[in-house]
Amino acid sequence: MAAQPKAVFHGEATPADHARYRVGPEQMATVVIFGATGDLAGRKLVPALFNLWAADFLPKRLAVVGVARRSKSDDNYRSEMCEALKKFSRTVRGLGETCDPFISNLSYCPLDFSDHRGFADLGRRLGEIEAAAGLPGHRLYYLATSPEYFAAIIEQLGKAGLIHARGASQWTRVVVEKPFGHDLDSALALNSQIRAVLAEEQVYRIDHYLGKDTVQNIFAFRFGNAIFEPLFNQNYVNHVQITVAETIGMEERRGEFYDKTGALRDVVQNHALQLLCLVAMEPPAAFAPKEIRDEKVKVLSSVSVPRQDRLETWLVRGQYTEGPNVKGYLSEAGVSPNSTTETYVAVRATIENWRWAGVPFFVRTGKRLKERVTEIVVQFKEPPTHYFRKLGLETLPTNVLVFRIQPDEAIALTFNAKPPGMEFQVEPVDMDFDYGQAFNEALPDAYERLLLDALRGDSSLFTRADEVENAWRIIGEIEEASKLPPELYRPGTWGPTAASRLFARCRGDWRNP
Ligand code: BG6
Repeated sequence: MAAQPKAVFHGEATPADHARYRVGPEQMATVVIFGATGDLAGRKLVPALFNLWAADFLPKRLAVVGVARRSKSDDNYRSEMCEALKKFSRTVRGLGETCDPFISNLSYCPLDFSDHRGFADLGRRLGEIEAAAGLPGHRLYYLATSPEYFAAIIEQLGKAGLIHARGASQWTRVVVEKPFGHDLDSALALNSQIRAVLAEEQVYRIDHYLGKDTVQNIFAFRFGNAIFEPLFNQNYVNHVQITVAETIGMEERRGEFYDKTGALRDVVQNHALQLLCLVAMEPPAAFAPKEIRDEKVKVLSSVSVPRQDRLETWLVRGQYTEGPNVKGYLSEAGVSPNSTTETYVAVRATIENWRWAGVPFFVRTGKRLKERVTEIVVQFKEPPTHYFRKLGLETLPTNVLVFRIQPDEAIALTFNAKPPGMEFQVEPVDMDFDYGQAFNEALPDAYERLLLDALRGDSSLFTRADEVENAWRIIGEIEEASKLPPELYRPGTWGPTAASRLFARCRGDWRNP
């Protein structure tokens, strides 16, 4: 499919992008990254800021302040981040050997998160940096620490007077990384601790999947085309599959966190349920934060798991074993040798509303699977086969719509066609839209989009308190039932074969790309 005039965003920013999305020097906030020496800062946050800066979405003079426990000088921090940029940045044009002039916008401030005097010092330091850089003093605090510090950091920022009240001439926003709590109770507690200091509009709970262009494209596809949206309901859809598959296992230092978390909380609670919301939600009254999130909350409130059915028919948990050249989960660093944590989970859920009643939604995610792929498959109902039976065709392949979120970003529609020849046959054929071919542009990294939105004060692609709580309610219901030990699967496969059981009452099986 050929691209029509280019829409917003990016790579090479167009003048229209800039007019709308550029943050001018007078609106620019000081970006303060808590957890500045962690993985996320080096892999994603600093590279995203660099790319935004290089594409002129941010002013040339910035202040990015890294905050973490370890002591180090500004120069050390700059050279570490310069190395990270060379390794992880999506574009390296203009970086040079020293990453200047971008890198001199970075500073470092050591801080013990439980030391209130340290926060007062941080406040003074931020004031000095802002004065030197001629910045107006707006603040974007990014909490990229381990989650147990989130509430304490927000509380200390409040006590130290480092949060501007809502409506003040300088603004404060706080981006909170995932995981946001580890169950419903802890998420409720964290939300109430946050509310003691911040207004909801100041809180930006991040789910980086929402920053992916292909995820946002679900909006464009569903609500920007008259030919698809009318089909997205129980009259036409047989079932929906959501797959978030990864080939990686436990990365460096990840085992300990993951063993306490598992696939259900790590990916289903956030990324997979967000994808489900976007395919299932009603069109929002406006493309605005409140309206979009209201619709997502309605979907989440209607999601239920069939607890009345036998557990094996709606839930499969798995754990990877040792494989050629890869460790088994139980031998990974930081993982308990008798752990029953799932590295794979597949679940059948339903959405109890007029649009979706009776349509199963199958969701699965796992580590060490055969391929890294995230996709949503909408499988349509079988058409009446009466005419075709007379021609000797018992069943017909059904129409399938696939949103390939990553990699090889695409949307594909399968429909039936008559192959050439005298005989009347029907065969499935594909209609493909490929991002790379159609737009010939690199997709921005999700964190670029989300950081820019947070700086511009657009929270549409961030999750609201009630959304996160509803997602945890669903996870709680699944966990309560999940007493079964995980089924073992070999690395490089599509997970436990038992996952096909989930389709017992529904035509189809997992689509393994
Ligand atoms: C994170 C999970 O939120 O998402 C990781 O904690 C997972 O376990 C990652 O690997 C996947 O993100 P992406 O963008 O690589 O699909």
